[in-house]
Amino acid sequence: MSDFETIIYEKKDSLAYVTLNRPHALNAYNIKMRDELYQVLGAIKDDPEVRVAIFQGAGERAFCAGADLAEFLSAPSPIVARRVRWERDIWGLFLRIAKPLIAALHGYVLGSGIEIALCCDIRLASEDAQFGLPEPGLGIIPAAGGSQTLPRVIGGAKALEILLSGRWIGADEALNLRLVNRLVPRKELIPEAERLAERIARFDPTAVSCAKQAVTRGLDLSLEQGLELEARLGHRLALSAKERAIPHRPL
Ligand code: COA
Repeated sequence: MSDFETIIYEKKDSLAYVTLNRPHALNAYNIKMRDELYQVLGAIKDDPEVRVAIFQGAGERAFCAGADLAEFLSAPSPIVARRVRWERDIWGLFLRIAKPLIAALHGYVLGSGIEIALCCDIRLASEDAQFGLPEPGLGIIPAAGGSQTLPRVIGGAKALEILLSGRWIGADEALNLRLVNRLVPRKELIPEAERLAERIARFDPTAVSCAKQAVTRGLDLSLEQGLELEARLGHRLALSAKERAIPHRPL
């Protein structure tokens, strides 16, 4: 799992680290990265040793500067470029992972970069982070779920403003918009992500997974359906408590 070209995948105890690793191109997302990320996400999803995953960008300048423009512009057409990116349902796979995913964001977080971050559950950013969706300026729209995930996180009006105007926003504004959970000094970004991941990883993984699913799946449901989902997950958790040797405390 370690001989990837565009990604570094590491495991330390129960944490997985995914590093987008094309720093010479500001970690731009290319087809190779798509394929390698797909494998890595499968490993995170299926490996019982992994309890929490942290996503980061290599180098000092960027988490990810979006789709690889060299590759994109050399495709026969934007439509072909887009189809190639959809050949693997990487974004569906991202959203099916029932384990907590933490994005540690620094520098440029553009296009696919912001979309990867939006597929994560908790976003920490350093003060140098800059966010933007340049797609409409390139004659395309987001293809990695950003048009759906961004408004779910920051609301429709702000998402539209950012998407339609192509305006980039800095870390403070990202925090105000709740696009990121927290700002931390650059040096503290990874240590803080690790502290958070380690804290989560100490809890019962089935309970953590059910809690994540209750929130993430519930967001797309009515309150009534969401309450049913919560009850189902709670019931399933209680039934499995015995085999997981977790004392079940009735409410
Ligand atoms: N795809 C491919 N290569 C990229 C890239 C991308 N999205 N973004 C940056 N790079 C490469 C540059 O070509 C450059 O390579 P080089 O050193 O071989 O010339 C290197 O990364 C550094 O980028 P550079 O443009 O020199 O840095 P900068 O500080 O002047 O500008 C940005 C940084 C992010 C403002 C600028 O690189 C940029 O606008 N990138 C494109 C962002 C974008 O539109 N992404 C697509 C979203 S769909």
